[in-house]
Amino acid sequence: MKTFITTVGAVAAMLLAQASPAADEITPEARLAAQHVAVMTCATCHGPQGRSVAPKFPALAGQHPKYLVAQLEAFKSQTRGDADAIGYMWGMASPLSDEMIAALAAYYAAQTPVAGSAGDAGAIARGADIYANGVAAEGIPPCIACHGPGASGTDDYPRLAGQHAQYLLKQLRSFQNNMRNVAVMHGVAQDLKANEMEAVAAYLQSLGSR
Ligand code: HEC
Ligand code: HEC
Repeated sequence: MKTFITTVGAVAAMLLAQASPAADEITPEARLAAQHVAVMTCATCHGPQGRSVAPKFPALAGQHPKYLVAQLEAFKSQTRGDADAIGYMWGMASPLSDEMIAALAAYYAAQTPVAGSAGDAGAIARGADIYANGVAAEGIPPCIACHGPGASGTDDYPRLAGQHAQYLLKQLRSFQNNMRNVAVMHGVAQDLKANEMEAVAAYLQSLGSR
């Protein structure tokens, strides 16, 4: 009986570890190896500590680890497939082991999120309204329902606050045309108009700006 319970406990612990690798489950060796890869390779585009400058490259600092793991796995398994994902990230992710992916995710999640940058005040105000209330007449749900107050995300939904508007806008287009094929965000984005996408992207980029 005792063995049975211990085994069930061990299996449950393994499943939990797979679902969401907690930072304290990563070995010091894996942590060091991930830091090396982040500094030597990923930083070329994503910037030091995941604080990218060029708007084509998403900021990774402060992103939730479960989301980062899911995206790196999606690049590796070639299921996240718009042109930039294919061109930049499929090759980057293909050699990464599961352990390295978990350690890289923990590394970026532990960094202080980027402060956003301001933009057009009118677009930001319109975007704030869409974020909080959706667009009822067009069947667009409030983004806040999943991405949370301040767009800081949760364990299950990515952080959007402070992200480059250009990157966000491109993702919304890719969800809409299914190049990035995710049912839930396709449903959200399918009826978003171009000017609504631009407004919500401007709002999200502005969050945390000083
Ligand atoms: C040559 C440039 C380049 C390098 C080097 C690079 N990336 Fe990327 N990465 C990109 C681009 C471009 C995107 C956005 C792809 C898109 O638009 O869908 C991206 C997207 C991502 C995303 C998705 C972020 C999100 O918000 O969904 C993660 C995670 C990521 N990269 C992690 C890494 C890691 C870890 C490394 C190092 C092993 C790395 N990248 C190296 C260019 C790069
Ligand atoms: C029902 C929940 C839900 C709602 C509502 C929602 N999202 Fe999302 N969103 C998600 C999920 C889940 C993902 C992660 C998709 C994946 O796994 O690739 C996501 C991803 C995103 C991304 C990609 C982030 C990145 O770093 O690449 C953007 C941009 C985004 N959402 C914007 C919005 C906007 C803008 C709204 C409101 C108009 C919205 N979302 C409403 C669930 C939601």
